[in-house]
Amino acid sequence: MQVLQLFHAELSRQRWKFMIMGALSGSSNAAVLAVINHAAASLDEKGEMMRSLIMFVAAIALYVVSQKWLLTMATRASEVTVHKLRERIVERIRRAELQDMERLSSAEIYATVSREAKALAETVPLLMVSGQALIMTVFVVFYIAWLSMTAFFLLIGTVVAGALIHLARSKEVARQFAETDRLEGELVDGFRDMLDGFKEVKMNSTRSAELGSMLSRLSNRLTDRKVETAGLFAGNLVASQVAFFIMIGVMVFVVPKMADIGIDKVGMITTAALFLMGPISNVVSGVPLLTRANASANAMLKVEAELRELEQPETGSYDPFSDDFDVLRLRDVTFSHASGRGDAPGEHAFHVGPVNLEIRKGEVLFITGGNGSGKSTLLKLMTALYHPDGGAVMLDERRVTPENAQSYRDRFCVIFSDNHLFRELYGVETVDWDEAVELLHLLEMDHKVRLVDRRFSTVSLSGGQRKRLALIAAMLEKRPICVFDEWAADQDPYFRWKFYREILPRLRDQGKTIIAVTHDDKYFDVADHRVHMEEGQLSRVSEGSATGHHEDPA
Ligand SMILES: Nc1ncnc2c1ncn2[C@@H]1O[C@H](COP(=O)(O)OP(=O)(O)OP(=O)(O)O)[C@@H](O)[C@H]1O
Ligand SMILES: [Mg+2]
Repeated sequence: MQVLQLFHAELSRQRWKFMIMGALSGSSNAAVLAVINHAAASLDEKGEMMRSLIMFVAAIALYVVSQKWLLTMATRASEVTVHKLRERIVERIRRAELQDMERLSSAEIYATVSREAKALAETVPLLMVSGQALIMTVFVVFYIAWLSMTAFFLLIGTVVAGALIHLARSKEVARQFAETDRLEGELVDGFRDMLDGFKEVKMNSTRSAELGSMLSRLSNRLTDRKVETAGLFAGNLVASQVAFFIMIGVMVFVVPKMADIGIDKVGMITTAALFLMGPISNVVSGVPLLTRANASANAMLKVEAELRELEQPETGSYDPFSDDFDVLRLRDVTFSHASGRGDAPGEHAFHVGPVNLEIRKGEVLFITGGNGSGKSTLLKLMTALYHPDGGAVMLDERRVTPENAQSYRDRFCVIFSDNHLFRELYGVETVDWDEAVELLHLLEMDHKVRLVDRRFSTVSLSGGQRKRLALIAAMLEKRPICVFDEWAADQDPYFRWKFYREILPRLRDQGKTIIAVTHDDKYFDVADHRVHMEEGQLSRVSEGSATGHHEDPA
């Protein structure tokens, strides 16, 4: 059972406490019943009544203490387990490699860490109530056995028959649950489509109507399914109540016929059986909860297992590369993109290389090439985000391997074409405040954005402005190699000019090595070298001259 597998560590740490408290709470509850029965049988003995009253109060007090402990600890155990699992998932994501992460569904991971974790943490304490009800049921059943073995066997007979019928039906309930889960997932995807594509939806009434009717159809189907599932539930509930009435009937009508017991005992047994109604219905309602919790636990364990498979060796402080190097080399590097999930069968994967390339410290290298020619893929190979299928990426004489790749990557600051701008300056070890203020001024962002502590005061900016902030953040990282993937693409001519004529020369003067993908032929002279990509193949175009003519901005 996946829930138990998941909670094993937390539960087994306190297994004895849970068992003892469970037993105390179950037995104190049964004791309340026994005391009531006993008191009812000895109504005319005054001393006995007093003793019963004290026992009654003590049993309730014991029940309150143990039950409260049990529920609090169950909540803590489930929250702590989910927290640890979340931590493990975050840790595994951090250690996974890009090319593996691209194969996983981020939507699934997202749903798991949010929705499933929440469902699980909420369900488990309720399950604890069911588990405790089960213990109580066992105690009351023992009490009935002590009153009369015949009643005990008849009770077990009816309960087992009821449970078997219930189990047979719960398969169908589980199937319905899986189906509603699937539909709910589709509905969430649909909603996300509508919200993410809101502008596009507003611009086309047919698109809007089609999306709307798709969502309404889905929602309708989900409603039908939910009603159907509720119908099944209702059936199960009524069936279990009928089973219960039958059980009481058996106690009242059949037990006295089969066993030689007095009227007072029949009364006691019937009271005990009635007392069972609450716990038994708690146990019964625990079954769907368990199915639900199992499904959530299963989803979480699945994501965790998928991530575990990708896990790279922990490299810790293994840091063989230094900021001082002479040359970065790609030697016969080849790489193939695995064909994506949605690709038609037979669609062949994109292939890069063999690529041979050298860039010396302090040089500026430009990469050009058409859309889809493999420029961004090449950058990911150069930055060790992708590992080559063949050949090697080397810094001086040291080859980059999966084990030392993190140390290599830590020499770079990169702005990808689809870069993500973090609101806080994560990754900037010590912020040079003077430089930060100066850069905000240089990139003309100081009238829009301030740095408050390590956070940008706002990131609600235009695409070009966000890229300028990203550039500031990257420059503050102070890494020796800077990589820009079409940084200037969303800048106006003035900022393009500024980038090529002011920023790049400034970085070069600071001794940085620069690798940039660009289409701006006007500025090719800034580069020391230019290489051109075509269908994954690289050719050297020119020895550029960094001293070319300078034109005016715009
Ligand atoms: N994660 C991926 N999985 C599978 N194929 C991919 C993946 N990323 C890119 N590709 C494929 O690799 C090829 C090169 O893509 P890449 O992004 O490197 O091109 P690019 O030269 O940067 O193009 P652009 O100028 O549009 O940015 C494309 O055909 C693309 O379909
Ligand atoms: Mg690209």
